[in-house]
Amino acid sequence: MQEKLENILKACEQALEKEQNLNDLNNLKAAYLGKKGEIAALMMTLKDLSNEEKPKVGKLINEIKQQLEALFEAKRNALEQVEIEKKLKSEAIDVTLPGLKKSVGSAHLLSQIVEDIEAFFIGLGYEIKDGPEVESDHYNFEMLNLEQGHPARAMQDSFYIDPNRLLRTHTSPVQARTMLESGGNPIKIICPGKVYRRDDDDQTHSHQFMQIEGLVIGEKISMANLKGTLLAFIQYFFGKDRNIRLRPSYFPFTEPSVEVDVYSEEGKWIEVLGAGMVHPNVLKMGGYDPEKVQGFAFGIGVERLGILKYHIDDIRQFYTNDIRFLKQFKGGR
Ligand code: DAH
Repeated sequence: MQEKLENILKACEQALEKEQNLNDLNNLKAAYLGKKGEIAALMMTLKDLSNEEKPKVGKLINEIKQQLEALFEAKRNALEQVEIEKKLKSEAIDVTLPGLKKSVGSAHLLSQIVEDIEAFFIGLGYEIKDGPEVESDHYNFEMLNLEQGHPARAMQDSFYIDPNRLLRTHTSPVQARTMLESGGNPIKIICPGKVYRRDDDDQTHSHQFMQIEGLVIGEKISMANLKGTLLAFIQYFFGKDRNIRLRPSYFPFTEPSVEVDVYSEEGKWIEVLGAGMVHPNVLKMGGYDPEKVQGFAFGIGVERLGILKYHIDDIRQFYTNDIRFLKQFKGGR
């Protein structure tokens, strides 16, 4: 029996030496020390022994059993240690590695331009106004002296929702809305916003673009005020050395009407906005007496200004949201 037990111990030691894995270790332990293991089987044979031999052999088996348990315990600890070290190694953090960069967004270039222009006009005491993009025929045309069938309507083909509602073709309807709201009081507003035309998109045309409408109404407002305001604005936006040129033009809602050109860096005059003195009919429809008050108005093309200032070669760049393009303009306030 002694020999048998020592052989079991030896075999177990050898098996343990090869063991690399905690799961297999448990199986091995069951084979030796489990209910159906070798030690349990030896215990079963005790009952066949004489009363004299029983305690001796029983003691012997118990000793070996304890040794085996100690061996398994030691091996378990060793394997667990290895596992912990492996884990520590694989999860090690190298604090000298560069961190993950979070990219910070910025306002879209169009928003930046609009905010820049707003800041200038706020400085002159203007209020910022808003108006609906889905507009009625009444405000988009009628109230601006463009009655049904007026030939100038053809220049502003739009997207109609029904015969009386359309996507506004310009920000000018906000002029009429503001006049009606203000109950005959003086007005000094700008209105930035999106406008829509039924145009085919190309390098210089977009069916959606932005305008900034301006309207000033009060006593003794003259064309000189208009020109002074626009010159100050252009020099704020493009630089003090820029000059502007006013060319006679036609808009149904202003009389006289002008087209404003700015002198470009390439030495050419480039049209950037339309303007004029508010037409007496428009004043009347808005509840003002053209004999007592006058007004000037202007409509700035936002993309137009951006293209000139930032040397952008295609108006569609504002709307295709190519991050590589937009990332170049991370300024803003
Ligand atoms: N609404 C005009 C357009 O979209 C631009 C314009 C011209 C606005 C003259 C004005 C103005 O307020 O006085 O073409």
